[in-house]
Amino acid sequence: MSDHTYEKTADIIFGRWKSQILYTGVRLGVFDSITSGVKSTSDIVNELGLDDKLAYRLLRALSSMGFLKEEPDSSGFSITSQGELLRKDHPQTLRGVILLEEGPEHYAIWKHLPAMIKDGKQNSLEREFGCKLFEYRDRNAEYAEVFNQAMSSYSSIQTNWVLEALDKYDFSNIRHVCDIGGGTGHLLGNLLLKYPHMKGTVLELESVISKKGSLLAPKLGVSERCSYVIGDMFSSNSQLPSADAYIMKMILHDWNDEECVRILSNVYRSSPKHARLFIAEHLVPGPDKPHFSKLFDIHMMCVASGKERTVDEYSSLLQQSDWEYVQTLHPHQQSGLIEVIEARKS
Ligand SMILES: C[S@@+](CC[C@H](N)C(=O)[O-])C[C@H]1O[C@@H](n2cnc3c(N)ncnc32)[C@H](O)[C@@H]1O
Repeated sequence: MSDHTYEKTADIIFGRWKSQILYTGVRLGVFDSITSGVKSTSDIVNELGLDDKLAYRLLRALSSMGFLKEEPDSSGFSITSQGELLRKDHPQTLRGVILLEEGPEHYAIWKHLPAMIKDGKQNSLEREFGCKLFEYRDRNAEYAEVFNQAMSSYSSIQTNWVLEALDKYDFSNIRHVCDIGGGTGHLLGNLLLKYPHMKGTVLELESVISKKGSLLAPKLGVSERCSYVIGDMFSSNSQLPSADAYIMKMILHDWNDEECVRILSNVYRSSPKHARLFIAEHLVPGPDKPHFSKLFDIHMMCVASGKERTVDEYSSLLQQSDWEYVQTLHPHQQSGLIEVIEARKS
């Protein structure tokens, strides 16, 4: 066994310690407290109302992981570029992501993973909290705030990947786009900014779009072309908005195959003959190829009824709901983890 093998394995074993240390730094406001240059430990501690001895040890651990830089005499700390990514005001902030994924709810549900895999019931959140994800979110205001912020935080990078993947696409005949489960409108708002001839509709649950202050279209200056409509993508009784194109980012991975076919069939029923559908998701590559989607898939196993899928699996879902797979569009960046599948009505 080489030292490298040992280190790689140990690093994974202790991975959760690292993410919990980082979560605690973010939760306590460390990264928003250190603005520019060196801040003394006592100023950080006093401003955030922390215990000085325990807080120093946290700051030192955050420095050891590369998020802060400790002064040689331990008198203060400055923020590194890695640490900047955890600040509220960073354009690609990961703050919301860590607050959700390492927060108490998501931390708690992972403990059910071995039992789920043994008995084949994918219901970790129900085991822990007695209900499903969106029901839990809509009953818990504090969790809802963290969840919705995390979706915007994920979107701050995912939107770029989706726009890049669609960069060469000819949108000249697409005048109205509907974002199904579009959250507060991060993706749609940015799509409308890039394509001024378009208007858009976000279809969402009432709990998400009733908080007017959190909607992003007004902040992006596209509110005149962007409407928010309350709707249920599962309800076959209600008509979804009629649009030239539909987009769904990180929607289908929340749901099992049967639920996905219900959503896709509803969109099919509500859409005009010429409609296009864009599905933005992590795509699982072939066997033995390491990919983030294979880890996110286990997260989906814990948090919802869904899964991450291969292109062929998405094609099959499309076929079962009368859509026809057209192509997969890739972001230019090698690091882009989201791809976009285009479908048309068959
Ligand atoms: C994983 S989030 C993705 C949000 C957004 N598309 C993004 O990428 O940031 C899933 C979204 O689906 C919405 N949603 C869940 N059930 C829904 C339903 N029955 N009808 C419409 N939207 C729903 C949730 O409120 C949530 O905002």
